Amino acid sequence: MNIHQLDINKLQELETPLYYYDMQLLANTLDSAKKAADKRGFHIHYALKANFNDRVLQLIQSKGFGADCVSGNEVQKSIDSGFPASKITFAGVGKSDKEIILALKQEIFAFNVESIQELLVINELAEQEGVKAHVSLRINPNVDAHTHHYITTGLDENKFGVPNSELEKAAAVLRACDHVQLLGLHFHVGSQITDMNVFKSLCVKVNEWKNWFEERGTTIHVLNVGGGLGVDYHHPDEHPIPDFEAYFEVFDKFLERNAHQEVHFELGRALVAQSGTLVSKVLYTKNGVKKNFLILDAGMTELMRPALYQAFHKIEKLGDSGENEQINYDVVGPICESSDCFGKEVLLPTAERGDYIAIRTAGAYGEVMASRYNLREEIRYLYSDQIG
Ligand code: LLP
Repeated sequence: MNIHQLDINKLQELETPLYYYDMQLLANTLDSAKKAADKRGFHIHYALKANFNDRVLQLIQSKGFGADCVSGNEVQKSIDSGFPASKITFAGVGKSDKEIILALKQEIFAFNVESIQELLVINELAEQEGVKAHVSLRINPNVDAHTHHYITTGLDENKFGVPNSELEKAAAVLRACDHVQLLGLHFHVGSQITDMNVFKSLCVKVNEWKNWFEERGTTIHVLNVGGGLGVDYHHPDEHPIPDFEAYFEVFDKFLERNAHQEVHFELGRALVAQSGTLVSKVLYTKNGVKKNFLILDAGMTELMRPALYQAFHKIEKLGDSGENEQINYDVVGPICESSDCFGKEVLLPTAERGDYIAIRTAGAYGEVMASRYNLREEIRYLYSDQIG
């Protein structure tokens, strides 16, 4: 049942704020992505950082996806949730020794290595553990993702990946490291990318670097092109499922690869964002000198994206009869910060204390980025399949 079909009486039995997950939409989204990837022999590792809610993870795992992790705890969580270690990738610029050892013991599919120093540390720890680590070298391709600067990762000024100037040295170090085996190359240029030309540019860079390594006699088995496919925050009902066909088609068409080369993806947002809604209750309405405020029981502690990235999330009043006059509200939370605002001048039907407000497209980077600031309560949930 989608958010509009949700019975307000049901909500009244529950405490808000809560994250509502439309499990049917999630299943349909996963099926759509899987179908488009399988058709082309592509592999998807779900980026846990987008959402590691237990029920969400269970469903993703049951559909046969791999996992993409950025901490030892995420690696452990993936294993505990049933993802096979042989489908787990581990990225991040700052992997601690403890995290590396955990991943080595689990014999994960690949470490996405972000520096020469990290390569040497993994080699040393793998030797200590008596194993061989499989790695992909993360290359910073210097491709502009044309997205918010906080979520652009593939430019020279970003901290991610091995800079191009160090690749010659990295290749030599790899040859000298007995406890590390190079699987392939890894790239990720940013998140919430809606312009397919960005991915086309990425393919061009991947081809260049693949050739560069092959010319030097290095075999590349895996091309991991990261994640980043965006979703429609403005029209969640019109575009509930991203166009996975168009996305994978770009890579199918522009990525040059041999028969033995696998193509891997690390999608997060595109798989989970539209299935989640933050449901909140109006605590107070306030007519200020210049503004009308709707003060909600949810704040930046439950959904940080608007405060952190000035991100847009569609805001709707639930269960509205359509008869109320529409007025502009600044929709704000209860946290003691002026940035605790979900939207300014949002046109909504007149609302009252006790009305329910939906903040849409909150399934990715929503509850995972929640905090206990102001000693807020733990996040609550409601799953569509719990409702009879
Ligand atoms: N792979 C790597 C190496 C990444 O750094 C990321 C995201 C992904 C995959 C998954 O990207 P996705 O498919 O979800 O775009 N908190 C921000 C987004 C940060 C993304 C960080 N990296 C937000 O709320 O927009």
